[in-house]
Amino acid sequence: MSENFALGFPDALTPDLVPWARIVYSSRTGNTQAVAEHLAENLDLSLVNAREELAARMDERGPDGRLMRGDAAGTADEILLLGFWAWRGGPNPTMRDFMRGLRRRRVFVFGTMAAWPDSEHARACISCAKELLDEGRNEALGHFVCQGRLAPSVRKHSHHPRTPEREARLDEAEKHPDAADLAAALEAARAALAPLRP
Ligand SMILES: Cc1cc2nc3c(=O)[nH]c(=O)nc-3n(C[C@H](O)[C@H](O)[C@H](O)COP(=O)(O)O)c2cc1C
Repeated sequence: MSENFALGFPDALTPDLVPWARIVYSSRTGNTQAVAEHLAENLDLSLVNAREELAARMDERGPDGRLMRGDAAGTADEILLLGFWAWRGGPNPTMRDFMRGLRRRRVFVFGTMAAWPDSEHARACISCAKELLDEGRNEALGHFVCQGRLAPSVRKHSHHPRTPEREARLDEAEKHPDAADLAAALEAARAALAPLRP
């Protein structure tokens, strides 16, 4: 008999204690983490860093570095909310790796980027994430993207031409994610999850 049972609590492994949804995010400078934490707090979901999740599962990787048994820890029924930062027109490398390892999961995707969220570039980032998830026949539940401040050193040393349009966009990105972004991310996630909440 487990100690928990003796205390009158259900055993930690009983199915109803397996989370029904979980957030896995990747963040280099904290923007995506801020969105992830806001979602976790307000949706009462647990939060895990993708790098830690992948590192913990190194022994489950095949020769190509991909996860052999795709699903993240938890049950295959568990819904995943995956947060990425934009890199070369798609999710950052760690999150790409994580997405490639998933099989037949239900996934809500959120991301932060220097681009305008309603731009062609933002749509390309989402499409890239969707293609990665399609490879494992995962089901897309919805998505949300907003701007996120470009790290000052990256901005300073960037080789991109400093056009007025780019400077204005990066100046605006400095202010994000802001309170309105966090609220919009929560609304999008809530709308996607509401019909699926147990
Ligand atoms: C190496 C690097 C590549 C990036 N590539 C893109 C990109 O292709 N498109 C974009 O919109 N933003 C790009 N960004 C900006 C970041 O995605 C953005 O600042 C993001 O909010 C960072 O999130 P984080 O704080 O969670 O790491 C790039 C940033 C870095 C450092």
